[in-house]
Formats: sequence, C-alpha cells, structure tokens
Amino acid sequence: MGKIDFRFQFEEFESINDLPSGDRVLLEQARQITADAYAPYSGFLVGAAARLSNLEIVCGTNQENASYPIGICAERTLLAAAGTQYPDTPITSMAISYHNTRMENASQEPISPCGMCRQALHEFEERTGQPIRLILSGQEGKVWVIEESSQLLPLAFSGRVLKT
Ligand code: THU
Repeated sequence: MGKIDFRFQFEEFESINDLPSGDRVLLEQARQITADAYAPYSGFLVGAAARLSNLEIVCGTNQENASYPIGICAERTLLAAAGTQYPDTPITSMAISYHNTRMENASQEPISPCGMCRQALHEFEERTGQPIRLILSGQEGKVWVIEESSQLLPLAFSGRVLKT
C-alpha cells in the first residue's frame, strides 16, 4: 500500500491593485460584466472574462431559467462562446467575479468555480493543451490566483479513457 499526496498552492493578493496589469484588466472586465448576467432567480450575478492565446478576450455570464436546472454558469457560457468563436484556441487566463444582489456587502470574498465547471475547464485545458490560470475575486477585496484550473479537480475524469 502506498499513499499518494496531493497538494497545491495558490496566490492571494490583497486587492486588484497588486495584480500584474494583464490580470487587472481581465478582472475589471469580469467585475463589470456581472451587470449583464441573467440571474433573476438567484440574484447572484456571475461574470467571467478570458484571454485567449490569440489575445482576444471572451466573456460569459450566468444565464438562468424558470426551469432552474437549465441555468448555465458564467464559466461554461464563456467556454462555449470561446470554443465557438475561436475553435481550438487555448485560453490562457480566466477571471471570475460576482455580485450578490441579495446581500449587502457580500461580494468581497473570492468564489471558485462549481464542480461542473471544474470538469468543463479541465476538458478545455486537456483539449487545447494549455493550463488556464484562474483569477478569482468579488467586486472588491482579495484576489486568488490559481495557476491551472485542473488543480481544483484532482483525479478528474478524462475523456482519454473513453477512446478505443
Ligand atoms: N454560478 C456561476 O455562474 N458560476 C459559479 O462558479 C457558481 C454559480 C451561478 C449559477 C446560478 O445562476 C447562480 O450562480 C447561483 O448559484
């Protein structure tokens, strides 16, 4: 019997002002685009902005539905848009922010992607061969930077096992 250790580290910045300029621009966009989210049921507006290897920026917001399970997260909206507009083009970084409209002063802690989005991010990384750096923050306050989104999904399920 052997034990396998998994650990990862990420960076924490006190504010957006401490980020390198490329990350700062991306996080500003993610914060701003939350205003365009369609989230009438949760009031939880999520925005994501990604820089691709061709330097284009693609955004996504959460899109809810009266039939709740149909709703899609901002991250997967973005991945679908990027995969459609720029097929097979790697994403190098993605900033994710949110605005909780139902709680005063509640948008100051970073959030990280849900399990379904982690799986979708993992496959995008695998398919394009490029790790996606995540920049996570609310409307203000601390920023977390994670070097590869797959670090959030240890032992991820991979489509590789489906191939014959
Ligand atoms: N949501 C996202 O868009 N991204 C996440 O990482 C977490 C949750 C959305 C889904 C739903 O529309 C709302 O936030 C509340 O869960």
